[in-house]
Amino acid sequence: MLKMFNLAKMLTIFIYLTSICCFLVSSQNVLSRDILSQNASFPNTPPQNTSDQDIWYTYEEPIEGLKLYETYTLSEGTLMIWMAFEDKEDPSCMLPYFHLRLIERTGRITYIDLNYTFPPEAVCPINITYIPLGYNYIMIIYVKSNNGVKGKYGLIINYNSEIINEIYLGNVNDYIIDSGTSGKGFIRIEEHDKRGLAAWHWLSTPDITTGKVVELGSGEFSVPNLLSYTFVNSFNFSLVDGGIGYAYILKYDEMGSSATNDPNIQYWKIYVSFLREETYSSTIPSLIYQTTTKLNSIAFKSCFYNNNAGYICIVSLNNTITNKDQSRTEVNYYQLEFLTTGSFVQFGMVPKEISNTGNFDLSSLIYGGFLVEKYYTNTKAMNFYILDNNGNYKSGGSFGPEFVIISYFRKNSTLLGVKETGNKLEFLLKPLLRLNNQGAGYDNPAIESTKPAINEVIDPLLINEIIIKYSIPVRLSTANISIFQLNDDPSKPRLLRQTISGDSKLCTIGSDNHTVHIPIFSSTFNQPNSSYNVVINNNFVISQERNEPLLGINKKIWMISTKPFKTGQHSASVTGLLRLNEEGSSKFLQTNQSEFFNNIIQEFSKIIPVDEQRITTNGKWQNDPTFPKKVLLSFTINEAKSAMEPSSKTIFDNLGTLIERKRFTALSNNEYSSLIDESASFTITSYFGKFLPLIIIFLVSMVILIILYFLARWKNPEGRNIAIFETALIMQDFAVDLIFTLSRVNNTPHLVIPNMVFLVVPHVVSFLLAINILLSEVAMNPMFFTWFSELPTLLSICTIFSAIDILAINTLTSNLFGFKIFSAPLSQRSRNIILWGSFINIFAEDIPQLIIQILYYNSVVTYDLIPSLVIISGGLVIVNKLILRSFHLLIRWCNRHDEIIDFNRNRHLSAGSIRSIRSNV
Ligand SMILES: *[C@@H]1O[C@H](CO)[C@@H](O)[C@H](O)[C@H]1NC(C)=O
Ligand SMILES: *[C@@H]1O[C@H](CO)[C@@H](O)[C@H](O)[C@H]1NC(C)=O
Ligand SMILES: *[C@@H]1O[C@H](CO)[C@@H](O)[C@H](O)[C@H]1NC(C)=O
Ligand SMILES: *[C@@H]1O[C@H](CO)[C@@H](O)[C@H](O)[C@H]1NC(C)=O
Ligand SMILES: *[C@@H]1O[C@H](CO)[C@@H](O)[C@H](O)[C@H]1NC(C)=O
Ligand SMILES: *[C@@H]1O[C@H](CO)[C@@H](O)[C@H](O)[C@H]1NC(C)=O
Ligand SMILES: *[C@@H]1O[C@H](CO)[C@@H](O)[C@H](O)[C@H]1NC(C)=O
Repeated sequence: MLKMFNLAKMLTIFIYLTSICCFLVSSQNVLSRDILSQNASFPNTPPQNTSDQDIWYTYEEPIEGLKLYETYTLSEGTLMIWMAFEDKEDPSCMLPYFHLRLIERTGRITYIDLNYTFPPEAVCPINITYIPLGYNYIMIIYVKSNNGVKGKYGLIINYNSEIINEIYLGNVNDYIIDSGTSGKGFIRIEEHDKRGLAAWHWLSTPDITTGKVVELGSGEFSVPNLLSYTFVNSFNFSLVDGGIGYAYILKYDEMGSSATNDPNIQYWKIYVSFLREETYSSTIPSLIYQTTTKLNSIAFKSCFYNNNAGYICIVSLNNTITNKDQSRTEVNYYQLEFLTTGSFVQFGMVPKEISNTGNFDLSSLIYGGFLVEKYYTNTKAMNFYILDNNGNYKSGGSFGPEFVIISYFRKNSTLLGVKETGNKLEFLLKPLLRLNNQGAGYDNPAIESTKPAINEVIDPLLINEIIIKYSIPVRLSTANISIFQLNDDPSKPRLLRQTISGDSKLCTIGSDNHTVHIPIFSSTFNQPNSSYNVVINNNFVISQERNEPLLGINKKIWMISTKPFKTGQHSASVTGLLRLNEEGSSKFLQTNQSEFFNNIIQEFSKIIPVDEQRITTNGKWQNDPTFPKKVLLSFTINEAKSAMEPSSKTIFDNLGTLIERKRFTALSNNEYSSLIDESASFTITSYFGKFLPLIIIFLVSMVILIILYFLARWKNPEGRNIAIFETALIMQDFAVDLIFTLSRVNNTPHLVIPNMVFLVVPHVVSFLLAINILLSEVAMNPMFFTWFSELPTLLSICTIFSAIDILAINTLTSNLFGFKIFSAPLSQRSRNIILWGSFINIFAEDIPQLIIQILYYNSVVTYDLIPSLVIISGGLVIVNKLILRSFHLLIRWCNRHDEIIDFNRNRHLSAGSIRSIRSNV
């Protein structure tokens, strides 16, 4: 494997060598595969000054005395203008304040006037820069002394001129570069050491609430370890898909170069490595260029992304030419083209007409060809030229000396010159010639069309995907395509609806390799009459031919709006359950729970989006029986108050989709909603009134009991064996209580202890009473003793049962089926104890248990069979003891009355009937 790799490396080096041989580096010998051909004809006279496509506009600065200092363009077309007060005493200084004006494409102006005084070391001489950091943030980078040590500091501010945070960035000589794509933070590169090692730190964008910046990754660019080559210098540049490229210049250590006649000093090599977000590590340096003749030096001038085809760096080569005893040094500019895979593409000379003064800029144009800007030493005027891909002159223009600053909107190929008169800034926009006008509407020539088209009005119910057609074969890559809903108030942030990365499996590519299909979630376009914006990041797709990232579509270009549509049928309030993941569950248990509910509801109302009043909670939660580490929370979507509002069912469905697609929606970007477990769906728990099920259960249980009771009475009018029926009921009640205690009460931690107390204490008391009855009967009641000595085992079992409820002892006296065991001759005292014990038990156990059940019902979200059985049997026991037993007593009392009459009539008294009369007291 290693051998093959080495072989491949040698092969590539061989290819370099052969290709480089063809353009031996000397002024006479120019390469054959030149991009900017030497034959290109350049007009000798400066190009024309004006064109009918030029646009002028003016900006008036409201603050007296502020002067234009610098401009900066953002890829979405915003122009940033840095204004400052001049220091009258020292022209190299400014007054220590910061003023920035942001002019958006739409013409909206944001004024940032910071109430902050910078230290003298930052403003005299001026040592301040700034970089945009994601939506709404800017970091001002400046030098400040702390205890006599100068350091680099970052002041993070937002577009409302509020200071969010100040951070220490490192040594004054560290270099801060934005990561190339907004929202991906920034990178700090430390100064390289002598051997060329340079440490880097990738830092995040500031946290919205705390302004905190965290380190996402760090490492170092290490120079390839080559025998006899030493590091000379490095150069770094941003990548369009986020991250940086880092180039190393190395030279060969030749001993005694004076021994040869060649006045040039050394052979040279250039390596490049790339640092990207996906890995937060830099790639192994790849050799992209080496000289075959000696040179004095190599230096980098600039590097830029070349349309869908890697990067081009402009490098200067300094060599000495000897011509008949005379020698002179000469500097020539070349463009070195390579791919981000690390492979070399080509090396070509920049025509002398362009590079002769050395004061030029060259960059590739989005719509094909190159832009050359030429500056002069004696005037501020600037000429520019558009060259085609072969370096032929196509068009040109110029800005007069009155333009103090020239900026470039790369995405739409427009140059902007700024003139300053008093407090007025005049802007001149010059659209550059487009060699190819495809994809002009998208500011992206690689895009042929999209569905829906720009500004199309769509019916949200009919759209389940969007389609992008590219002009070249593409492959999906790692960056995102996102859909935002725009806020009617442009100063408010847009609302993320969905974001999917190219490699997420949800996106698919058509069989022609040109079309990409992106699914649309039903929650995405959920508002009628609203504006949406599809944004595609660079590197959403790569070109199939070169594997290089393609540019995306910037903000506010691909706009879509939704039709007015009906809000759907009215539906009653819906209560549903959603689950938190393990992290969220432990956070929920550790924090203030009502605050947690409030925060998550606020996030829901923002994300869905819906009025906050529509989502409420009864604060109920419980552990998920199937995943004990996760908790379930209950939320209610209240019914709509008017036909204009979305129905509760619609909101419920939208929230359900958002949860199911959490990874791709704003739920995962918010502190609380990101803790939802997307593997459990949002389920409806009830449409009913709160206590309705409980009341139904209770009524049904009473009806069952009364039926059973009358059945028993009907079978046995004497009613004695009602005791065994009672005992069975009590046993069954104890069994369900026990099951509930073992399996359910843990769902409601606050009920565990009361449940335990009211379960254990009454039974212990019952048991003690039973023992007491037994012992006292054995000791004092000879009849009982006789009965007891015949059946000792059964009696002990019954004593244990009576721990469940003292009433169980009654079974022993029930005379059931005439068995001896059921005819214990208990004394009146014991009977009284049983009677009162069982009545007290109603208040000590049965009613508290019922209350616990009601509390349980009130605090859980899923109510199932076991607790309802507990309620039914608990209810039956109480009803039996309280109502039916009193009823029974009443009947007995009447019967006794009759019996006494009978007795009086018969004048016959049997022991059995006396016992029976007494037992009914
Ligand atoms: C290019 O973008 C700038 C800044 O957003 C805008 O002012 C200008 O009109 C655009 N030019 C063209 C040709 O669209
Ligand atoms: C500027 O900040 C200082 C304190 O930091 C405050 O006293 C002053 O009122 C602020 N000025 C303005 C115009 O906000
Ligand atoms: C900024 O300050 C540092 C430290 O004083 C200095 O090395 C550097 O050259 C300054 N940069 C500029 C642009 O003045
Ligand atoms: C990175 O690039 C900047 C600007 O071109 C330069 O000032 C800085 O020294 C470079 N840093 C390294 C380590 O090459
Ligand atoms: C080219 O290299 C020579 C020798 O190192 C040096 O003296 C000369 O200044 C360099 N020329 C330029 C323009 O850098
Ligand atoms: C894509 O979006 C997801 C979710 O917002 C984010 O975590 C990820 O970093 C994004 N990826 C890129 C390459 O921007
Ligand atoms: C699309 O690309 C695949 C490889 O990625 C290739 O096999 C296929 O032939 C291509 N289809 C067309 C129509 O070019």
